[in-house]
Amino acid sequence: MATTEANTEQTTGSGEPADQTAAADATTKGTEPEMRAVVLQSFGGANRVKVMKKTVPTPKDGEVLVRVKACGLNFLDLMTRQGSVDDCPRTPFILGTECSGYIEALGTGVEDLKVGDRVVAFQRSGTFAEAIAVPTKYVYEMPNKMTYEEGAALGVCYAAAYMMLYEVANLTKGKTLLVHSAGGNLGIAVSQLCKMVDEIKIFGTASTAKHQAINDKFDHLFDRTACDYVEAIKKIEPKGLDIVLDCLCGEDTNRGYDLLKPMGKYVLYGISNVVTGETRSFFSYARTWWNVDSVKPGKLWDENKSMSGFQFYHFLFNQGGEEAVTTVMNEIFKLHTVNILNPIIDSTYAFEEVGEAMLKMHDHKNVGKILIIPEQEPKPKPVTVTETAASEASSTDDVKEPDTPK
Ligand SMILES: NC(=O)c1ccc[n+]([C@@H]2O[C@H](COP(=O)([O-])OP(=O)(O)OC[C@H]3O[C@@H](n4cnc5c(N)ncnc54)[C@H](OP(=O)(O)O)[C@@H]3O)[C@@H](O)[C@H]2O)c1
Repeated sequence: MATTEANTEQTTGSGEPADQTAAADATTKGTEPEMRAVVLQSFGGANRVKVMKKTVPTPKDGEVLVRVKACGLNFLDLMTRQGSVDDCPRTPFILGTECSGYIEALGTGVEDLKVGDRVVAFQRSGTFAEAIAVPTKYVYEMPNKMTYEEGAALGVCYAAAYMMLYEVANLTKGKTLLVHSAGGNLGIAVSQLCKMVDEIKIFGTASTAKHQAINDKFDHLFDRTACDYVEAIKKIEPKGLDIVLDCLCGEDTNRGYDLLKPMGKYVLYGISNVVTGETRSFFSYARTWWNVDSVKPGKLWDENKSMSGFQFYHFLFNQGGEEAVTTVMNEIFKLHTVNILNPIIDSTYAFEEVGEAMLKMHDHKNVGKILIIPEQEPKPKPVTVTETAASEASSTDDVKEPDTPK
């Protein structure tokens, strides 16, 4: 990562992003321009996340400096914080994998983008910062009318949903499909993308509290904690489903496979079942993988079923997926322009509130995307009884003040 460590901890920020002028002033004065960033200090609970001051990175050859306006929070960030992701950097590091913003400076050799362009950007980690230096191959120019909030929400989840549906599962007319976590950003992306193909019947699982908000997007919704969703789906589709998109893993992998009809396709794209408490549980991790039945190719051959997997970050950063992702992002932006894809923003949080934002996701409470906004001020905290008593005591002191000698 291009960020140099200034490492000044800051739990309350001014909320004012350092702008180009500030950066230029700092450079002429010989000081390094600073920014705020959300740093994971060590793997664990929400208290390991701190807002710190860092030096604004300098874009290298082939990179641009993006002034960040909105960041997308993903379930992966929660798992990364816990230490449940295999290939994350060593702590401390800046969290976040996606953002939107505008280009503030160009590194050498950058010709296809210019200062001022509004973009979405992906990074292995480090987007929860006021500015990031990122290679142009991970930067996508946003259409004029798209807001920064929409840009940040139309990133990883929409690209992953698009690639799973159209490239992995080969969605075509008349198919039946199940997606878990239907009320999250990716689940909603799947529901919107399915509308582009005729006569798709979509089944989803989501907590009951979300059903009303997303009812119009799915044909059938089930709360998997309150019913046997396999049995419920088989009552409606006795032969099973054509496509199962599974972000849960563990027992749900076996259920998903069993739900497939002949020629059906199962896609594993997440392991949410490993998350149980606030910190990583080795037991949940081991149990999730242990519970997955091994399926031999001969069984797939006999039963005419396919099993596949999709991991967006591995594809983009480790497996040369840049060109394919650029094509998909441009397509997603076009579909947004014609009103087919419209992300739902659940809520926005300040840098200082990233722990709270993660807690909301962990507590199954978000409908749509949670965004982190660098310029947003933290919400005032409710006054506690102790604080009220303290303030009453101090106001009593104020009343007593005239008694003191003049
Ligand atoms: N492979 C890829 O390329 C890729 C890309 C993006 C996302 N993903 C995966 O897609 C899934 C959805 O991602 P997202 O970012 O849109 O997040 P999200 O759906 O907003 O995630 C939060 C929701 O997940 C559900 N959930 C399921 N198991 C959970 C658990 N153990 N703890 C807490 N919540 C749980 C909850 O909804 P309900 O209670 O309503 O079920 C919760 O509200 C995640 O598994 C993520 O890792 C994969």
